[in-house]
Amino acid sequence: MGSIEAGIRGKKAIVTGGTKGIGRSIVSMLLEEGAQVVFCGRTQSGVDQALEQLRKEQGSDAKVFGQACDVTRAEDIIRFFRYSDDSLTSLDILVNNAGIGIFRPVAEMTPEDWERVIATNLTGVFHFSRLALERFRRNGSGFVVNISSLAAKNTFAGGAAYNASKFGLNGFAEAMMLDHRRENIRVCSVMPGSVSTEFGGGLADWKVQPEDVAAVVRMVLTMPERTMVSQVEMRPSKPMK
Ligand SMILES: NC(=O)c1ccc[n+]([C@@H]2O[C@H](COP(=O)([O-])OP(=O)(O)OC[C@H]3O[C@@H](n4cnc5c(N)ncnc54)[C@H](OP(=O)(O)O)[C@@H]3O)[C@@H](O)[C@H]2O)c1
Repeated sequence: MGSIEAGIRGKKAIVTGGTKGIGRSIVSMLLEEGAQVVFCGRTQSGVDQALEQLRKEQGSDAKVFGQACDVTRAEDIIRFFRYSDDSLTSLDILVNNAGIGIFRPVAEMTPEDWERVIATNLTGVFHFSRLALERFRRNGSGFVVNISSLAAKNTFAGGAAYNASKFGLNGFAEAMMLDHRRENIRVCSVMPGSVSTEFGGGLADWKVQPEDVAAVVRMVLTMPERTMVSQVEMRPSKPMK
């Protein structure tokens, strides 16, 4: 029976949105720790570019696979899991990282803006989690890590869709944890503040760096099986005034 012990070596993982930013750092960390990883982004060209960089960085033997999958499209997700099953044969870890922000006052937000944010940040996570849980149940264990946000607890003007998606994501994660914890399935929400990526305000030294978020994911995944870190907040030590 497969089990998540205190270690990542040999584990099989899916990371959504692994082409850049936080997801890309999480893919690198998992490969460095000896995992096998399948990741996605919206376009095959973006995925291929990231694959090339990762193989350069990690060596050509790195067990890393990628396929385009838009997490808002149910048919893409089914195709992606088929690809993942063929590449990895089983699954131990799902990192739901893909996310977008559209920041507008509600009166200026279109129904399409709202739909896109909720479909990416929340409904996509449901679809990925559901299909991962089927595989975790077969294995006898599993781990879901969601890259949530401090926007899951702190609202801000222009954040209605993003705040709603991340508040919803934390609620979803907590309930899913209660549903499945006795099946050796652990669930964690990592909630960063400002991270230095293209998302939001862009790159800056004062922000949390993507590799710092990956380090937290490593810590969470390497806890002894008896212990579940279910929520982590992280923020820049010295935010810009
Ligand atoms: N940066 C921050 O300050 C911050 C703070 C707190 C939480 N977060 C959260 O961290 C996560 C990652 O953000 P980031 O800062 O790393 O952003 P990023 O640099 O813009 O990267 C986003 C990743 O998600 C992928 N993605 C977006 N929409 C997708 C879709 N529909 N289907 C598949 N992949 C999709 C992108 O891939 P392609 O572009 O190749 O499609 C890319 O790999 C998000 O959930 C975000 O909410 C970020």
